[in-house]
Amino acid sequence: MENNRSSFASNFGFLMAAIGSAVGLGNIWGFPYKMGKSGGFTFLIVYLLLAMFVGLIIMTSELALGRKTKLSPIDAYKVVSKKFAWIGWLAIIAPFLIMSFYSVLGGYVLQYMSLNLAELSFGLSGIFGQAISGSATFGAMLTNQFGCFFFTLLFMIICMVIVMGGVSGGIEKFNKIGMPALAVMLLIVIVRSLTLPNAVEGLKFMFVPGYAVKGGFIESSPDLITVLGTAGGQMFFSLSLAMGAILTYGSYLSKEENLVSNSITIVVADTLIAILAGIAVIPAAVANGINNGIPVNEISLNGPKLLFVTLQDVFTNMGKAGPLFGVIFYLLVLLAAISSAISLMEAVGAHWIDKDLQAGKGDTRKGITLIVSLLITVEALLVAVDGLGSNGIHPAALLGIQGPVPDFIADWLDFMDCWSEGIAMPLGAMLMALMIGWELTPNLILEEVGHGNHSPFFGKFYTVCVRFVVPIVMAFVLAGQMIGFFGGSQILWYVVAFGLLVIFWVFAANGKKQS
Ligand code: PFF
Repeated sequence: MENNRSSFASNFGFLMAAIGSAVGLGNIWGFPYKMGKSGGFTFLIVYLLLAMFVGLIIMTSELALGRKTKLSPIDAYKVVSKKFAWIGWLAIIAPFLIMSFYSVLGGYVLQYMSLNLAELSFGLSGIFGQAISGSATFGAMLTNQFGCFFFTLLFMIICMVIVMGGVSGGIEKFNKIGMPALAVMLLIVIVRSLTLPNAVEGLKFMFVPGYAVKGGFIESSPDLITVLGTAGGQMFFSLSLAMGAILTYGSYLSKEENLVSNSITIVVADTLIAILAGIAVIPAAVANGINNGIPVNEISLNGPKLLFVTLQDVFTNMGKAGPLFGVIFYLLVLLAAISSAISLMEAVGAHWIDKDLQAGKGDTRKGITLIVSLLITVEALLVAVDGLGSNGIHPAALLGIQGPVPDFIADWLDFMDCWSEGIAMPLGAMLMALMIGWELTPNLILEEVGHGNHSPFFGKFYTVCVRFVVPIVMAFVLAGQMIGFFGGSQILWYVVAFGLLVIFWVFAANGKKQS
């Protein structure tokens, strides 16, 4: 059954693909703005600690589960666990829901790249009689429902073709070229960003403790627990954890490779690119704001506006060179979005590809990828025409709810994000850690990790983290996400999150161990 299963051709190819999955909109867009919103430096420290004690552990666990079973998430969990066999479904539903908006955001990026390319090639003002301006262009794009859907479709077609190409022939090949190209483009944008007058204010905002408040960017820093929730959610999303993608890629990896060093490489690379993306984006946005007389607290470093309004203004204000940097920047974001989207699509389709292979039906990758792409396009239609809630068809409007509403029904993107990134991801990670730590015992993973060759220190570190640190931190992240999406009483959501933690902890630890 395993003979014909796809695999990566080399460890380098695997690393590029896994880093490609991790490096995405989350790094270039989410990281800088969440860092800004959460008071800069504190966020960075909390993020780094979480990546080390939680991200690395889940990364290693997912890769090991995938490679040990050589199966996609649904079957992998079924094979190793009696109690948690159903977690695999979370790891298919979550990436499917994420794709509903990831593809639309990919479509936005494609539109911005095309606009800058058109301006660079023909001088857009000559075509439409109007230069690109951040907020006007963004507003016009969101309300152009057909355009948004069209570019979403285009984005989906690109991803579909790559996934249809196979694990080594499509995914690995794309990433082996795309990731180094992305790194080069990022360096070019960083040099441009840092040489703008007043860019240093942006650097201070990011790296000088307390400067976000002292410099007048935000009124006050959020409390540490809120930062923990935000940083935890961001770290998981950014590292593509608990969504089936890393597990699926791990299942295509050769038995010879060491999973500890691979996990460390992926976590370090993703974190480094997130910080570098911050350095590319924040100083440019801050410098452009200050140079145009915008008070620092009004510079939009937050939400979708950062990428599509604030940064486009940076390029527009650069004059002649602007469109060139615009093309380079949005192309790099596009590469990042594609390399992540293909891992999400692979995580969804792999189960059925495996099933057909096992049933002797041969390689049905193309057909299954086509079906997965069509289904994603259907759900993405909703997000695309909603235009981040600007076209009056968001969930709250459909439910007839007036006035201020909780985030999760404010628009379709947030609605999909709530169930996937908000609930399925932290819950899935918590359950995975409890399963490994208390039902299966950590040794099962440690045996797979380096064929028993890992250092004794790693063994101890892994065991303590997977049994205690990860489940507890995930309860905080889950509470933080629910508070963010649903609002209302904070205490209530902490009770719910920690209640679930206790229930599943007892469930995992009780009775006979499975192996
Ligand atoms: N890590 C990607 C990002 O930072 O944008 C998003 C992502 C990809 C999340 C794959 C989850 C996943 F399975």
